[in-house]
Amino acid sequence: EGNKLWGGRFVGNTDPIMEKFNASIAYDQRMWEADIKGSKAYVKALQKAGLVTQNEMEQILTGLDKVFDEWSKGEFKIKPGDEDIHTANERRLKEFIGDPAGKLHTGRSRNDQVATDMRLWLRDAINTLKELALQLISTMVERAAVEIEILCPGYTHMQRAQPIRWSHWILSHAVALSRDVERLEDIRKHVNVMPLGRLFLCIYNFKRILYGLLSFFHSPELNFDSISINSMDATGQRDFVGMYNHAANFTRHQDTIRFCFVCVLCVYFCENSTGSSLMPQKKNADSLELIRSKAGRVFGRCAGFLMTLKGLPSTYNKDLQEDKEAMFDTYDTVHAVLQVATGVISTLMVNQPAMERALSPDMLATDLAYHLVRKGMPFREAHSCAGKAVYIAESKNIHLSQITVEDLQTVSPLFDKDVSSVWDYNRSVEQYSAPGGTARSSVTAQIEHFRTWLQAQ
Ligand code: ARG
Repeated sequence: EGNKLWGGRFVGNTDPIMEKFNASIAYDQRMWEADIKGSKAYVKALQKAGLVTQNEMEQILTGLDKVFDEWSKGEFKIKPGDEDIHTANERRLKEFIGDPAGKLHTGRSRNDQVATDMRLWLRDAINTLKELALQLISTMVERAAVEIEILCPGYTHMQRAQPIRWSHWILSHAVALSRDVERLEDIRKHVNVMPLGRLFLCIYNFKRILYGLLSFFHSPELNFDSISINSMDATGQRDFVGMYNHAANFTRHQDTIRFCFVCVLCVYFCENSTGSSLMPQKKNADSLELIRSKAGRVFGRCAGFLMTLKGLPSTYNKDLQEDKEAMFDTYDTVHAVLQVATGVISTLMVNQPAMERALSPDMLATDLAYHLVRKGMPFREAHSCAGKAVYIAESKNIHLSQITVEDLQTVSPLFDKDVSSVWDYNRSVEQYSAPGGTARSSVTAQIEHFRTWLQAQ
């Protein structure tokens, strides 16, 4: 046990099963660069504190550069005793420079190192995820701008509700993603705190990184600071339902899948779909189904690690070693999801005629009520009249737009020939010109909002 960093007080050998169970090198080697960066800073601090000489510091720095080189060339050889990345790097440093390597750990614990490495690693990871999320948002926004003319059904309760602009729907997801980006930014502030040099007292902070990382999934938003940018998003988002967190953003992609099925293949997936091994005609939206599935995985990582943290005594406990696989896997998953989603949004093809065929006059029943409201009828009554008109159409087995003015007049004398103006989908969407609405001007304002927002990122 003499070779172990902590071997001094031990006699006999560690049980090999325990040795394997204890080791984190298989996954924490991902932080090799952060670990070296942290050590280089630390040795400079040691020299300033008079704990190593100028010469020792230089030897350590040169040695660390050699370790760095090995890792970056993929030549670093992990040895059986290398418990974790901190142990491995220090072992190799000692092989390069001999005894002075032993001074690097003065006043430092691996607990400090792991906290530092995690923060350094995560800081970069957040930047990368943010970049990818911004690419996805910008792809959505530009697509929304180009296809602003296209109308499609807007859904509530999975039923066709009212005509909307396809762009309005795309932007509702861009808004949700922009909240995720802002959450990432908030977390970055908490991550980017240096714990090094605090000895074991730093560990209390350490927990916060993990809370920070995993809490980019939950940020209760009951403090109203601003107005929702998109009406569909405003009524449809429940991000504040705590643990539903970041994953909620991905589950939203089921909307696209639904479009694909319900609108008779309104949306064609090219590069991101796959076929059926049995049914030759099939084109499946596997990309989106996989994205949706990852929500469960990411949430599971989050819940699993929160469970590990629950009830832990303060300061470092080895339980905390469990942080890394949760962090890495979440990162890898989100990293892939964002790229695939960008691919889907940029390559999918919209079948505009099919989308328009999916619109039907009954989706204008609300507009029929508004038509009466404009003639002075209270909305409650107008709603009831429009409902009666729907009933007449249903019982005559005709479209709502096919009811004669005479029949409508049995419902309300306010109906007149001018009711024909209601049966126009373009006119319908253009009524919703308030901020956040689906009229061309409102959608354009949302696009402009995003272009400005993206530039400020
Ligand atoms: N591999 C450990 C981790 O990832 C490093 C800290 C070890 N500290 C200890 N006291 N055993 O958390």
